[in-house]
Amino acid sequence: MANQKTVNLKPKKTNRVARGLSTNELVFSAYQGTNDEVFPQVLALHVPKGSIVCDVTYGKGVFWKGIDTAAYELRATDLTTGVDCRRLPYGDSMIDCVVFDPPYMHTPGGTAHQNHQHYEHYYNNNGTSHTSKKYHEAVLDLYFEGSKEAFRVLKPNGILIIKCQDEVCANKQRLTHVEIINELLQMGLAVVDLFVVVRNNKPGVSRVLKQVHARKNHSYFLVFRKVTPSSYRVQKRNDQMPLHLAEETRHSVYRSSRVRPDSKSVSTVRYASGKSATDRASKSR
Ligand SMILES: C[S@@+](CC[C@H](N)C(=O)[O-])C[C@H]1O[C@@H](n2cnc3c(N)ncnc32)[C@H](O)[C@@H]1O
Repeated sequence: MANQKTVNLKPKKTNRVARGLSTNELVFSAYQGTNDEVFPQVLALHVPKGSIVCDVTYGKGVFWKGIDTAAYELRATDLTTGVDCRRLPYGDSMIDCVVFDPPYMHTPGGTAHQNHQHYEHYYNNNGTSHTSKKYHEAVLDLYFEGSKEAFRVLKPNGILIIKCQDEVCANKQRLTHVEIINELLQMGLAVVDLFVVVRNNKPGVSRVLKQVHARKNHSYFLVFRKVTPSSYRVQKRNDQMPLHLAEETRHSVYRSSRVRPDSKSVSTVRYASGKSATDRASKSR
């Protein structure tokens, strides 16, 4: 055609090389099934064969049902076999992976949770516990103390796999997985993965008059990595500062400037990083 310009397109210079296969044969973040079906996926993705793996709340070993344990150096302990997860018989920084699945809920009363792993079943914590904490706080305390001990025995870059479930306690939502993540970030553990396990069956409750919260039918495997202090700076994580730290920062600014944090001037609050709240919001989009 007359007057039509020819444009010579040069191939773009790039160092990127397309490699690998297209597949959907992947490990996914949510499964409907049982722990013994999901745990092998978590392990396969995050823990190389031959690793020293300590399951410190081994129980009946359900997690390991479908796994060739000869492929790992498995050290299975439990309170029932005389090893408290808060005082492990290992030296510092010598373990590749710790698996931690303590009792994950307090006794809610009634019969609805009869088959769950009650905290009180092990500690009778309504008065005679190892800790002054009660109910959900006692459940969290064991998660936190056990995680501190796991941190001690883990090698740098070692993996901590935690099983947990959220609960409603005293009519309040306790998002246990969030509470654990927030606390463990402070210890120097970084979250590297999160798996949701949805139950096959429908859990019920006894004597319900009016349902006010969704009945929980899912739990989590959380995967953390022990990071070195130099690579771990919680304050610099892009908008992932744990909420309570953000709140502390906000309130200290509030105290020093005498500006109400809920007033419009909050948008000019400067974070410890030196960036303003508006900077942070715009960069995160
Ligand atoms: C939810 S069950 C673990 C089930 C296990 N993952 C399995 O596959 O069979 C909780 C376990 O934590 C153990 N446990 C409770 N408190 C503990 C503690 N302080 N130290 C070690 N184990 C503890 C209990 O004896 C129980 O076996």
